Amino acid sequence: MGFSALLCACVVVLCSAAPVKHPQRNDRPIIGILTQEVDNESMRKFGKTYIPSSYVKYIESGGARVVPIRLNQSLAEHEQIFRSINGLLLIGGAVDLQTSEFAHTAGIYFRLALKANDGGDYFPIWGTCLGFQLLTVLVAGENLLSKTTAENVTYPLNFTAEASSSRMFTNFPSDLRKALSQEPLTGNFHHYGVTKEAFMGNEKLSGFFSVLSTNIAQNGLEFVSTMEGRKHPFYGVQWHPEVNRFQWDPRYNFPHSSNAVRVSSLLAEFFVNEGRRSSHRFSEAAEESGALIYNYNPVYVANISAYEQTYFF
Ligand SMILES: *[C@@H]1O[C@H](CO)[C@@H](O)[C@H](O)[C@H]1NC(C)=O
Ligand SMILES: *[C@@H]1O[C@H](CO)[C@@H](O)[C@H](O)[C@H]1NC(C)=O
Ligand SMILES: *[C@@H]1O[C@H](CO)[C@@H](O)[C@H](O)[C@H]1NC(C)=O
Ligand SMILES: *[C@@H]1O[C@H](CO)[C@@H](O)[C@H](O)[C@H]1NC(C)=O
Ligand SMILES: *[C@@H]1O[C@H](CO)[C@@H](O)[C@H](O)[C@H]1NC(C)=O
Repeated sequence: MGFSALLCACVVVLCSAAPVKHPQRNDRPIIGILTQEVDNESMRKFGKTYIPSSYVKYIESGGARVVPIRLNQSLAEHEQIFRSINGLLLIGGAVDLQTSEFAHTAGIYFRLALKANDGGDYFPIWGTCLGFQLLTVLVAGENLLSKTTAENVTYPLNFTAEASSSRMFTNFPSDLRKALSQEPLTGNFHHYGVTKEAFMGNEKLSGFFSVLSTNIAQNGLEFVSTMEGRKHPFYGVQWHPEVNRFQWDPRYNFPHSSNAVRVSSLLAEFFVNEGRRSSHRFSEAAEESGALIYNYNPVYVANISAYEQTYFF
């Protein structure tokens, strides 16, 4: 016993002395997008849950395939999906952060991802707008949101000092970082957010996430607009990178400049690259092909919503 313990110790020493091996990349990543309850009366006739096509295109543009994750499945079914996908996107929207089925199901994946990452099984999560807010609720264990309305307005990001050493913006060329800090390249469509004060005052939240940027809301309060996990590959934006390339409703202020498009492209690629570090996979090819978004057709909804196309489930 003493001998095998010694052997183990030697192996550990040998391993740590060896050059860092790059983990096998997964070049067929699949990102799960959690569906959300339809809250808009005029869209109910198409289905109970939905995903706007803009989020699907956003992920696909980064080089991944999409699996829609239905709500109301058993824990065992969600665990099986978790073992099959390489990352999770939590979309924007308007459901309750604590009582909705969307929030409940996101919590299941969040806890699975925490455990997986802590055990060396890389699994990234990205939250946009409501998805960002939900990540703060899941990490803090309480709802710290307050009114920080920024509705239909575009902002540059006010970067924090931590942004310069962030993972999220690593691949941004310096001219684009500068543009993002000076030009209004981020579309904001929210009424609530986490103020910088509330964020920093909550040890769970500020211990878990680095704040990469803040902005000033229409009521003058400073809210956190971009964050990334200190140790975990969890990312959140209070703004909407997908609209820059994939939403065109002329009634809304969607940034479509060439720099706005670059920001959206690089962030989609960044998140998909995070997914390439996950080796989860479907156990059967038929199960994979049956789960992919290609089995569904989006519906034209530009005349009844702010989206051009939406998938319903
Ligand atoms: C989920 O299940 C509950 C209880 O059966 C039901 O009331 C609700 O409409 C379902 N939600 C969705 C999105 O299917
Ligand atoms: C950035 O921060 C400065 C200083 O607090 C503030 O005056 C400005 O309004 C902020 N910009 C945005 C777009 O939020
Ligand atoms: C959004 O902002 C744009 C530009 O400021 C404005 O023209 C438009 O009317 C606004 N839309 C809504 C729905 O408030
Ligand atoms: C919206 O457009 C679709 C497709 O053209 C059409 O079937 C539907 O009736 C329209 N809805 C409204 C409310 O105009
Ligand atoms: C909800 O539906 C109304 C029309 O019934 C539409 O004007 C509005 O833009 C929709 N909201 C969203 C977020 O799509």
